[in-house]
Amino acid sequence: MSSLLKVENVHTHIGQYHILQGVSFEAKAGEVSVLLGRNGAGKTTTLKTIMGLTPATSGAITFEDEAITKNPTHRIASNGIGYVPEDQGIFGALTVEENLKVAMRKDDDSAKERQEYVLNLFPDLKKYWKKDGGHLSGGQKQMLSMARAFVNESKLLLIDEPSKGLAPVVIEKVMEAINEMKKQTTIILVEQNFIMASRIGDTYTLIDDGETVQSGQMSDLVQNEELKRKYLGIG
Ligand SMILES: Nc1ncnc2c1ncn2[C@@H]1O[C@H](COP(=O)(O)OP(=O)(O)O)[C@@H](O)[C@H]1O
Ligand SMILES: [Mg+2]
Repeated sequence: MSSLLKVENVHTHIGQYHILQGVSFEAKAGEVSVLLGRNGAGKTTTLKTIMGLTPATSGAITFEDEAITKNPTHRIASNGIGYVPEDQGIFGALTVEENLKVAMRKDDDSAKERQEYVLNLFPDLKKYWKKDGGHLSGGQKQMLSMARAFVNESKLLLIDEPSKGLAPVVIEKVMEAINEMKKQTTIILVEQNFIMASRIGDTYTLIDDGETVQSGQMSDLVQNEELKRKYLGIG
């Protein structure tokens, strides 16, 4: 499979801080690539750097064989990269319906079909259509956040820690939804829950102290007790 997104030796500074210090990995079309690493390793910053929110200070990011390293965020988004941020980024004072409406970039028949598809994927959202985003449960907020990104056709979706703070049964539902989204879109997933990450991921990239330390097939990482212990504190 060909590489949809390539991140090569990316460095990112935030203010005076040198946060990313050599992040490299590839996301192949049709796959789920999982970014793993301890708290504070630089996973969120990696996603923000891809989106141009904390732009790379050196290195290269290539999307569909085109350099996007210096592009502004709105162009990166309209090129087809969707983003589900860690803090979910939904509007608490808007209803579920309104949250989806303001996210939608198109309003033609295909967009309506897509909205139907997304609501079938997240039936709770249909049920709470008129409820304010702020009054949803944690799991429903996560579903709405993913639906907001998925309601637009993206070639690549970046999803940051979707299981964070959710109960196990809810995590299961979120992961099922991501598995379904995977049939339509390439995904880069940041996931701290290793069991979930290993079930859903095709490949992994381990990030430590702002740097890629290892990438490979998820099935290999599952069996690599040393890597898991050293960088994820598992086992
Ligand atoms: N706006 C910021 N200002 C200063 N330091 C930051 C900022 N954002 C993130 N950092 C630091 O960058 C490092 C990586 O953070 P982050 O990418 O959020 O890690 P992760 O998502 O892997 O937990 C952390 O040490 C964090 O404290
Ligand atoms: Mg993070």
